[in-house]
Amino acid sequence: MPESPGHVSGSAALLELRQVSKYFGGVRALHDVDLTLNVGEVVALVGDNGAGKTTLVKVISGVEHPDTGEVLIDGAHVRLDSPRTAAASGIHTVYQDLSLCDNLDAVRNLFLGQERAGGRWLGRPLDRHQMETEARRVLEGLSVKIRSLSTPVGGLSGGQRQGIAICRALISDPKLVILDEPTAALGVSQRAEVLDLIGRLREQRRGVLVISHDLKDVQQVADRVVVMRLGAKVAEFTRGDYTSSELVAAMTGAHEVSHG
Ligand SMILES: Nc1ncnc2c1ncn2[C@@H]1O[C@H](COP(=O)(O)OP(=O)(O)OP(=O)(O)O)[C@@H](O)[C@H]1O
Ligand SMILES: [Mg+2]
Repeated sequence: MPESPGHVSGSAALLELRQVSKYFGGVRALHDVDLTLNVGEVVALVGDNGAGKTTLVKVISGVEHPDTGEVLIDGAHVRLDSPRTAAASGIHTVYQDLSLCDNLDAVRNLFLGQERAGGRWLGRPLDRHQMETEARRVLEGLSVKIRSLSTPVGGLSGGQRQGIAICRALISDPKLVILDEPTAALGVSQRAEVLDLIGRLREQRRGVLVISHDLKDVQQVADRVVVMRLGAKVAEFTRGDYTSSELVAAMTGAHEVSHG
């Protein structure tokens, strides 16, 4: 996909959260979370179950609304009051269930909900030719290999399915792609494929926020790791600047218990 001017920002971060909090009744799901994400950067979000990762992603993708705090995109304040608003701001989320239609082919899945209209005189609602051309370009851009664009995706491998789900997010040329557990339930070689694909999103100068429980994947792919615990951001590490045990200690809070 060609670079759009929207990918080039000045000094402002692509995404910035300031002091974001979110309550569900008495449960504090997010507590004063600050987060920045820059163009061409892969940030991993890690933390134990219930740490607030999904809630944070929902806030960024416009599904949940923060009770307090600010969200800025390219340095400008935004109100992400629906997934549609988030999409219009260039944010696309690939959820863990991928939401692919198994009985439809790759092209139809890529354009689900964003079909290109064909000319009326052709007597058909969709411009299949245009969609196939665009589908090829997006798939090739991420080196996702699908033998046939016109067979149902139900029979494809887990890695190919993840590839299609990510490519679908790219049809609208987003600035920020959020991936929820993209390597969970994948075999070794498929996992490597998806990690490569995340690297190519970075090469395309997009921002990537990836939730993962797999610390090996995180260490391999993330430029920065943000650690959450009990709704708060408790640590942040830069690539090559931490060990697995430091990461685990931050996630579990072990380092706090030790100075008794
Ligand atoms: N809709 C909701 N209603 C009430 N409580 C919620 C809701 N969504 C999340 N919570 C609570 O907010 C906290 C954070 O949950 P969240 O799902 O964000 O954690 P998570 O880090 O994604 O965990 P996991 O790794 O298990 O997916 C938890 O205590 C959870 O029970
Ligand atoms: Mg979650």
